[in-house]
Amino acid sequence: MNASQPKLRRVPSVYDQDESFCSIVDRPHRCSLWGDASYRGNCDGTLFKNLVQWYQPCRIADPMVGSGTTRDVIRGLGENGRFAGRFWSGDLRGGFDLLNNPLPGRYDFVWIHPPYWDIVRYSEHPSDLSKPQPLEDFLQQLETCLVRCHESLQLSGRLAVLIGDVRRSGKYHCLAHEVMKLSGRIGELCSVIIKTQHNCTSDRKRYARMLDVPIRHETCMVFRKL
Ligand SMILES: C[S@@+](CC[C@H](N)C(=O)[O-])C[C@H]1O[C@@H](n2cnc3c(N)ncnc32)[C@H](O)[C@@H]1O
Repeated sequence: MNASQPKLRRVPSVYDQDESFCSIVDRPHRCSLWGDASYRGNCDGTLFKNLVQWYQPCRIADPMVGSGTTRDVIRGLGENGRFAGRFWSGDLRGGFDLLNNPLPGRYDFVWIHPPYWDIVRYSEHPSDLSKPQPLEDFLQQLETCLVRCHESLQLSGRLAVLIGDVRRSGKYHCLAHEVMKLSGRIGELCSVIIKTQHNCTSDRKRYARMLDVPIRHETCMVFRKL
């Protein structure tokens, strides 16, 4: 190149490695390339993308894929030469019931973003974790699903669980803590990532007088299979 020619700058891509990735993730704007923003309870794909680029797994699964956020991230990574492994996804709405079936195959990274108890109802199916039911029953079913994910992991593989806490009739239910308590049964807890929540349906509600602080975060816990 001639010294007088201006250097061409590479345009940054959403698929670039995020050098600032750490235990706090704050993305006010959802990346429109991934998933469907109108699917209730969907999440932005950035955290999943960062985890994939961090751990560099070859075989990935998402058994509660919802609107397809993780599938779209993987497709984009592949098209941009950043992922050449295998990816499997399923969802009850697509006919895969994790409560009653193992994941097909072995993986080194499993991502799961389950319903937050019955905050959003996804279907009328009796196996749907989002059906109205006592918290104890929901937690039992969640544990069954997480154990299935753990069973599908190779040794040293990672299980990432994204979940939010719930306040019901003034009582705080820390679902993240319930998942952390499963450490050992679903692998060894190795990372806790706080993800701030933006554009929640409840943002549009006006709380005349809240006794306690609104919940605006979700927790992603990563477990390592021993
Ligand atoms: C929080 S949403 C996942 C949203 C997804 N991350 C996205 O960005 O679109 C939870 C999903 O769990 C699914 N689900 C609930 N019970 C299930 C079960 N027993 N087996 C498989 N999927 C289930 C629901 O259909 C729903 O799509």
